[in-house]
Amino acid sequence: MANIEKPAIQKCINPDCAAEYSCGQGMFKCPQCSDLLDVIYDWDKAPLPDKMADFGKRWATRNNPLDFSGVWRFRELLDFCPDRHKVTIGEGQTILEQNCAIAQHIGLEPDKLFLEYEGCNPSGSFKDNGMTAAFSHAMMVGAKDSACASTGNTSASVALYAHACGMKCVVFIGEGRIAFGKLSQAMDYGAQTIQIAGDFDDCMRQVKDVCTELNLYLLNSLNPFRLEGQKTIMYRIIEGMGWNVPDWIVVPGGNLGNSSAFGKAFGELKSLGLIDKIPRMAIINATGADTLTDLVNNKGLKWNNGNVDHALIENYYKKLDVENFSPHTCASAIEISRPVNLKKCLRAIDITNGVVLAVTDEEILDAKALIGKFGLGCEPASAATIAGLIHLLEKGTVQKDQTVACVLTGHPLKDPDATVNYHKQSQGKYSNPPLQAPNDMDALIKLIRG
Ligand code: F0G
Repeated sequence: MANIEKPAIQKCINPDCAAEYSCGQGMFKCPQCSDLLDVIYDWDKAPLPDKMADFGKRWATRNNPLDFSGVWRFRELLDFCPDRHKVTIGEGQTILEQNCAIAQHIGLEPDKLFLEYEGCNPSGSFKDNGMTAAFSHAMMVGAKDSACASTGNTSASVALYAHACGMKCVVFIGEGRIAFGKLSQAMDYGAQTIQIAGDFDDCMRQVKDVCTELNLYLLNSLNPFRLEGQKTIMYRIIEGMGWNVPDWIVVPGGNLGNSSAFGKAFGELKSLGLIDKIPRMAIINATGADTLTDLVNNKGLKWNNGNVDHALIENYYKKLDVENFSPHTCASAIEISRPVNLKKCLRAIDITNGVVLAVTDEEILDAKALIGKFGLGCEPASAATIAGLIHLLEKGTVQKDQTVACVLTGHPLKDPDATVNYHKQSQGKYSNPPLQAPNDMDALIKLIRG
């Protein structure tokens, strides 16, 4: 699998435009029609392996940083950048845990549930998969300064990778809208951190304009190269399952970068003959930030071969503006009402015969506590997966003998306040508050023995 000159281009996803651009350009929307861009490969020129399992051979040569990376280990499937530009800090050393206890608890057969712990990444969330790819592209195009809007994890990851590349970065966050663990990372990793009096959607609007004005490299998931890196989360799930594909992937939905990337990954693998079936995908919103669920389930929005009903989306957003709507959920990472990758996500739903639904904050917090009690824990947004899966099992959409992989997108310590409040204030089914005791051994023994 030698490194050849790169067989990739950027292409507008709007079928009426379909403009093509070189990967040597840094941009975050189609200059002709402002739609989203994809990275497209000429697979005939790509030196692909015969089967997915061949990528596993790279475990033997992991003293090479690109083979150690859980992203670049699969580099032939995201071949847009010569190795000399690639930036890696050891991302993608994640754990796929078969979790029998939670499976039984929610009514799946014990060996059917797999939890993909993306919190094991260097900055503690799945974002690093995308940033290693996007910053490699930034180095390739000679970018000097970078920026992002964030509900927290993107800013932490951008700050870490910008530092690794010697680039400056500015991050926009909504004041009071991000968990403290994440805010602490942005500051600690040296990002210029700007708190805007507004929500994530306001930050997103501002950062696009500021990037254009100041020629900053944008690292939100509008950036198509970020999504190329995030495809590898699916490759690692396949790897963790002995190179088999699960029946279901369950993922939280915020700005919809992951779901978009996963749909693209499976579409490509299937067309390349590297997998024989595409799993179904369930995308889970929080009820307080459920644009996707509302548009798909109640308004009938579809991919429709790329001919998406733009008027429906625009009217929906106008109505949000008129109502002065701002999303609210305890899962601050997915507190987004204008997801930038909406169209690509519709395509992913089409590719994977996917479903979407929304779960309440109460369900999210109980599911989070369950993952803490029987698993390795996660932040609230990640727990939307198990909360959603419970609904899908109840409805019979997911059968109890089907294999399910849930993507736990962020580490539990990202949002310790959510955890402490849940337990200390006895907010839910699995609350485990600390007991009060006098400074006295007899009283302590009595308390421990119950
Ligand atoms: N889970 C976590 C922990 C996240 O941080 C995010 C997004 C998501 C899920 C949603 O993923 O956008 O691909 O649908 N966080 C972004 C941020 C928006 O700024 O950190 P998505």
